[in-house]
Amino acid sequence: MTTPNVPIEPRKGDVHTYDIAPNVLDASGEVHVGLTLDAVRPPSEEEILKVDNLTVEFPTDDGVVRAVRGVSYSLREREVLGIVGESGSGKSVSSLAVMGLLPKSARVKGQILFRGDDMLKMSARKQRSLRGRKIAMVFQDPMTALNPVHTVGDQLAEAVLAHELMPRKSALARAKEMLDLVGIPQAEARLRSYPHEFSGGMRQRAMIAMAVINNPDIIIADEPTTALDVTVQAQILEKLLEVKDAVNAAIVLITHDLGVIAGMAHRVLVMYAGRPVEVGETDPVFEEPRMPYTAGLLGSIPSLENSGDRLRPIKGTPPSLINMPAGCPFSPRCPLADDTCRTAEPELAETDSGGHFAACHHWDRLAAVEDPTVFFRTESETKA
Ligand SMILES: Nc1ncnc2c1ncn2[C@@H]1O[C@H](COP(=O)(O)OP(=O)(O)OP(=O)(O)O)[C@@H](O)[C@H]1O
Ligand code: SF4
Ligand SMILES: [Mg+2]
Repeated sequence: MTTPNVPIEPRKGDVHTYDIAPNVLDASGEVHVGLTLDAVRPPSEEEILKVDNLTVEFPTDDGVVRAVRGVSYSLREREVLGIVGESGSGKSVSSLAVMGLLPKSARVKGQILFRGDDMLKMSARKQRSLRGRKIAMVFQDPMTALNPVHTVGDQLAEAVLAHELMPRKSALARAKEMLDLVGIPQAEARLRSYPHEFSGGMRQRAMIAMAVINNPDIIIADEPTTALDVTVQAQILEKLLEVKDAVNAAIVLITHDLGVIAGMAHRVLVMYAGRPVEVGETDPVFEEPRMPYTAGLLGSIPSLENSGDRLRPIKGTPPSLINMPAGCPFSPRCPLADDTCRTAEPELAETDSGGHFAACHHWDRLAAVEDPTVFFRTESETKA
């Protein structure tokens, strides 16, 4: 399948320029896969994280923001789960809930089970011992997570010492090992550098080193490369996969980039207005989407054969999370919407293939056509 690298949201006007992911295609347009999921160890059957009916609300002066409305997913050992969706769809808030990093004002309900233990019900001490050690996070902007006044080595050593009693020298030795692992040259000397002395790509590598230094079971990476240029993005993503294998971790990868998901995730969860609207193995979801929103996202990607095509971004904007409209939240933008859609919000339900779920009253209409992105084409494009 094609795996172009394009942001799913229109940024300027209604036509985007796009970059082909260098980890997928080389300069001549030939497929050139540096490191793929086939090359890393497969997931086991053991479920390490189960998020069940998670809801997060923020009371504000304007009303209650229903940021996450019933998110459920599971993650197996060594699995990469991609979470994709437009800005504001609740991707970060649902992950910050897992990390316990939401502001105090947030009202969190549901279950977050780590190896069967509900993190929302654990003592604060037990939660702290899991977060940062067993579950680690890589943020989009490493400067928000790295402290500018301490050396990278000191910060990495501190991350170890926060969870394990050992001589500082041993913690620094582990820090050097991690910088080596993430591909920072002259790791020994680099331990004494400050974050501002690193390039953006190196800082993100240092963040990854920090995330894996305690041998986590889960790495949550929230837009880990969006701030970097595309060549560096590909290197960092490959490194993330490599490092995941080295420490035997699973990854929750949040991104706007469908190409990244296609190349890196075993399964994908598509979010819209705070809810999962499609979940399944990546290839079936991308090849046979059963939710019009996913089809619309895929339709806004140019195919490699005719990459000069105009893109077709989904028209309209997501609904307000304070005053949600009745029915399916995608109905104002959906070409298939009818009265049923405008009155009842569809549940996430299994479709025509096992393990492939969609929240749509009319997923069977997508199943009935060869190319479900057709619903998002203009009349002239359909005739062409
Ligand atoms: N502390 C807060 N108080 C009120 N609303 C919040 C707060 N944090 C997040 N939100 C709202 O929750 C919704 C979901 O936000 P979230 O950051 O999860 O989106 P996202 O899918 O990660 O978007 P992006 O792709 O832009 O990062 C947004 O409407 C956001 O404005
Ligand atoms: S339920 Fe209706 S409005 Fe919502 S995505 Fe499906 S067809 Fe479109
Ligand atoms: Mg976010």
